[in-house]
Amino acid sequence: MSSETRIPTGIAGLDRVIEGGVRDNSTLLVVGSSGTGKSTFAMQYLNYGLEHGENGLYISMEEPPEQIMREAKMLGFNLDQYYEKELFFFHSKGKDFVKLVDEQLPALVEANKNYAVKTRVIIDPLTPLIWAIQDKQEQREIITKLFYTLKQLGPVLITTEEHASPGETIGEDVLIPIYMSDGAVHLTYRPIGGAFNRALEIVKMRATRHGEEVYPYIFVRGVGVVVRTTPLVSAEDVRKYDDVFDKAIRTAADLGASERMLERLVYVKENWSYPFSPKETLQIFFESQGLNDAITREELEKRREESSTKAAALEVSELTGSMQQDEDIVPEEEPSQEDEPLIDIDNLSELEEMIQ
Ligand SMILES: Nc1ncnc2c1ncn2[C@@H]1O[C@H](COP(=O)(O)OP(=O)(O)OP(=O)(O)O)[C@@H](O)[C@H]1O
Ligand SMILES: [Mg+2]
Repeated sequence: MSSETRIPTGIAGLDRVIEGGVRDNSTLLVVGSSGTGKSTFAMQYLNYGLEHGENGLYISMEEPPEQIMREAKMLGFNLDQYYEKELFFFHSKGKDFVKLVDEQLPALVEANKNYAVKTRVIIDPLTPLIWAIQDKQEQREIITKLFYTLKQLGPVLITTEEHASPGETIGEDVLIPIYMSDGAVHLTYRPIGGAFNRALEIVKMRATRHGEEVYPYIFVRGVGVVVRTTPLVSAEDVRKYDDVFDKAIRTAADLGASERMLERLVYVKENWSYPFSPKETLQIFFESQGLNDAITREELEKRREESSTKAAALEVSELTGSMQQDEDIVPEEEPSQEDEPLIDIDNLSELEEMIQ
């Protein structure tokens, strides 16, 4: 579990599946076609910050601030009390944004440098900027600079309109912003009727263990969107598979896994977030590392001779399920074939039994 502080998005249900929220100074992209709810996500995100003592900066490329405030009110967010006190707008039209990116925003960052209050930044939508720049290289450069600058103010949420051609999962003009963002969620709308015809998917979320399902969401006036999720790992599930891991780690040690490999397994144990057993994953991983069949009995024996600690010897007998209860296993003693305490793993199924 990451110990880094997370900033709640305020989007009901989303924080549950992204380790509690976004990282500070990161960019989150919300991609979706028209009417999926991008502006609602953006408003909800902004409103949460304002209600929790942050400032807000809204960068719009099309609509003037008055219209944005009016539309926010229709979505149930009355921002009047924050207007020009904690909430500020940059309205950039046409080619203006080059100046915005090159001059105005860096100046703002500079002015805010020693200011303790975080500023949550919204760009809704980024699309006009993308369309205004034909050259992909230039597009990439300006988006990189824009994101880099904004991140210094606080957590940033950007929306992008998607116009996917048939057969495309994600439209071409959103690939650059996705690539440049620290996180991206994809909103889809299937006009098939029913309450949950809109759904969200997390495309990426850097340095975050995130949910991998398709999460339906609904609009709730007064809340915004509510995403239907269940927490990734419930409190009682957190340590549920520790035994499986501990056995696997002992087995790996016994099979001669390196220190680094054992550390990795401990890391995997600490970070396992799936609601199912890691057994199969461990088997596949062991196999990929040549841990199951590459080691011959002779090699194993040699290793055992090398390790002279009694503890290691006990570990082996414990793993093999040997009935030997003798406290004084002497590693120097040549083990006879009958009470051979070593294990011989030829295939995955044996390993599986052992891990069980
Ligand atoms: N409280 C609500 N109840 C029912 N439907 C709602 C509610 N809020 C929003 N909607 C529906 O969701 C639609 C899209 O909302 P929103 O403006 O957030 O989407 P968008 O992705 O920003 O769209 P656009 O491409 O027009 O910018 C609205 O047009 C409306 O049909
Ligand atoms: Mg919108």
